[in-house]
Amino acid sequence: MRLPNYQEARKRDIREYKTVKFELDSKLKEKYKGKKFYLKTYGCQMNEHDSENIKALLTSIGFQEIDNYEKADLVLLNTCSIRENAHNKAFGMLGRLKHLKEQRKDLIVGICGCMAQEESVVEEILKDYKFVNFVFGTHNLEQLPNILDKAIEENNQQIEVLSREEDLVEGLPVIRANSYKAYVNIIYGCNKFCTYCIVPYTRGRERSRKKEDILKEVEELVRDGYKEVTLLGQNVNAYGKDLYEDYNLANLLEDIAKMNIPRIRFTTSHPWDFTDNMIEVIAKYKNIMPSVHLPVQSGSSKVLKLMGRRYTKESYLELFDKIKNTIPNVSISTDIIVGFPGEEKEDFEETLSLVEYCKYDNAFTFIFSKREGTPACKLKDEVSIEEKEERLQRLNEIVNKYFLENNKKLEGTTLSVLVEGISNKKNMYYGYSETNKLVNFTSIKELELGSIVNVKITSSKTWSLDGELDG
Ligand code: 5AD
Ligand code: SF4
Repeated sequence: MRLPNYQEARKRDIREYKTVKFELDSKLKEKYKGKKFYLKTYGCQMNEHDSENIKALLTSIGFQEIDNYEKADLVLLNTCSIRENAHNKAFGMLGRLKHLKEQRKDLIVGICGCMAQEESVVEEILKDYKFVNFVFGTHNLEQLPNILDKAIEENNQQIEVLSREEDLVEGLPVIRANSYKAYVNIIYGCNKFCTYCIVPYTRGRERSRKKEDILKEVEELVRDGYKEVTLLGQNVNAYGKDLYEDYNLANLLEDIAKMNIPRIRFTTSHPWDFTDNMIEVIAKYKNIMPSVHLPVQSGSSKVLKLMGRRYTKESYLELFDKIKNTIPNVSISTDIIVGFPGEEKEDFEETLSLVEYCKYDNAFTFIFSKREGTPACKLKDEVSIEEKEERLQRLNEIVNKYFLENNKKLEGTTLSVLVEGISNKKNMYYGYSETNKLVNFTSIKELELGSIVNVKITSSKTWSLDGELDG
């Protein structure tokens, strides 16, 4: 049994790491043929992509995926810790599984992902969820086949969580959710330690994948006909800093842009290390999508300091303007937290005025959620929940107003759309524009999913655009 330890996870020292190649234990290959698994994924794209590896690992030992957890032999929850509600959702599911397991003693239940890295969660599992068969964390995902096998063979609870990151594993199998757009990890972990954020504890320090490994993966995706890659990292802007003197995200974007892939996206960017070179490269290449997610978190420099964000309102706006003025037709989205400890009425008003200035194309807004073990958890929090909810509502009204206003400007224009689905209505399709806008459109011609088409925008809503196939 290996339990997570926050004392260890909090350490800021940078460790040496090797890149190692994954190999499946040959004894386990197809061992569980005929067994079925149900995987539930919570949280961000990083978790979604981890789940693509998890599915492939389970498939390699013979499991088959099903979408009804009541009929599964194995139920695995890939969890998220970012806010309390993600937490509560996973524990709610665990409650349902407890009942199921009372009727079906042979059901195997596993927990992985970010919550598995939390000391208090694992303590709770040990105390109140003894029926959980196995737990592993974000740093040893590749050990899933072995940990699961051990839990089954030895018929006891296996808890195997590493508190710190270890070697970087290449060559994990993957079953992608989609055959035309793909996630590609470029950097794992985060060194920023924003005071509200649990990610540095659950995902460890920054480790970049070698550029050759990334380029090879993208090359294979191009060969397989993929149309879009999204480069993933908690902070992609830090790419390469731990590996190279003279190769960074701008270089990587440029190298990928020269490949024959129609659409490149990347997320998430911390405003602190967004370089001019990056902006220039995004502006230069047509296949790097003009869409930047630039979390601001607050419009008050005082609150930003309390959050440990390393920029001020003024320096954020300077960067914002530079991106807007350099990348043609760029769309910018953001994340905002309201009700951070110490956020006074005037601070919140500053957030509103920043939003009025930036007129974001999209924004994810949250009420601050205390995460155990983070510095902000200890800050005095004097604002009532009612006040926080009111602030969130006021903020949402303003961000929504600008989503609609921006969308309205697109009426009458023609946008390039990657077709992603067919809606229930006849001749209706949907997809995303280059600037990441959801477009619902009609087409009499039958369209292939994954094709890129021109759509004439006829009307707009707050969260989507309507249109018709152009030509
Ligand atoms: N409370 C509320 N929101 C948070 N986020 C991260 N941690 C917290 C927290 N403790 C938000 C930030 C981040 C996004 C992914 O989630 O806005 O950018
Ligand atoms: Fe949630 Fe953060 Fe973990 Fe993603 S990295 S699953 S957002 S806690």
